[in-house]
Amino acid sequence: MKNRKPIAWITGASRGIGRGIAIELAKHGYDIAGSARAFDAANYTSGLGEVQRRVEELGAVFLPLRGDVAQLADHERMLGEVLKKFGQLDLLVNNAGVAPEQRLDVLETTPTSFDHVLSINLRGTFFLTQRIAAQMIAQQRQHPESRAQIVFVTSVSAYMASPSRAEYCLSKAGLSMAAAIFAERLAEFGINVYEVRPGIIKTDMTALVESKYDRLIGEGLIPQGRWGLPEDVGKAVVALVRGAFAYSTGMVVEVSGGMNIRKL
Ligand SMILES: NC(=O)c1ccc[n+]([C@@H]2O[C@H](COP(=O)([O-])OP(=O)(O)OC[C@H]3O[C@@H](n4cnc5c(N)ncnc54)[C@H](OP(=O)(O)O)[C@@H]3O)[C@@H](O)[C@H]2O)c1
Repeated sequence: MKNRKPIAWITGASRGIGRGIAIELAKHGYDIAGSARAFDAANYTSGLGEVQRRVEELGAVFLPLRGDVAQLADHERMLGEVLKKFGQLDLLVNNAGVAPEQRLDVLETTPTSFDHVLSINLRGTFFLTQRIAAQMIAQQRQHPESRAQIVFVTSVSAYMASPSRAEYCLSKAGLSMAAAIFAERLAEFGINVYEVRPGIIKTDMTALVESKYDRLIGEGLIPQGRWGLPEDVGKAVVALVRGAFAYSTGMVVEVSGGMNIRKL
């Protein structure tokens, strides 16, 4: 077990924040498994193929995984692929997530959209974590010197109310509690769990509302005065998992340019 590279599995690694986390972890000595719903092995210019090329340029190994976080049967298959390739898993980054396809006022939220968002952001991520936790506990028992970790990517929407996307806020508030619960439960096994809360990050997810956020940022919404970038989140994840916060399981780190500061 000594001198091997640690292995991270990042869900939703094909673009945006997950891509940023994969690149930053690769820069800091991790080999990477990255999953998304789609993977075209012939495409090295976008999606998981592009991330694979970028990560390999950094000298790390990248395993692309096709799978849907909402489909529990995919979890077992993807974990099997990770273990076949690497033999163990040291870090799970629960990053995959979706926004509602349509922003609707809370008085008009549909059950279909509610179920869709919750099935990925909360239900799927919860049960993936449960499955990976069992794997990590088994690993710790076999190799007590190893230190597996889990990071949840939630959102400032875990505590900021947006009536035009209630289902998203509810999913992230629930996921924040899932992070706390797993942190508490896994502490006895030496498995640390952290929560990273991004603010407004420039990705496909925010592209549809880019002009609205440009305006709000111009009006002072973010104390640090700019959009967040995927690499801002990636750097925070790296800082958390490198060992400096070993006695801080359950810690929440906000990556939002200061949106957490209450102002008067
Ligand atoms: N952007 C922001 O401002 C912001 C702020 C706070 C929190 N976040 C959170 O950060 C995470 C990443 O967001 P992002 O902005 O990078 O979004 P994004 O650009 O839309 O990327 C989402 C990623 O998740 C994957 N994904 C979506 N549904 C999936 C599913 N059912 N199973 C597996 N993979 C799935 C996507 O790949 P496929 O579509 O190919 O599956 C993609 O790789 C999300 O949890 C989001 O809620 C984002």
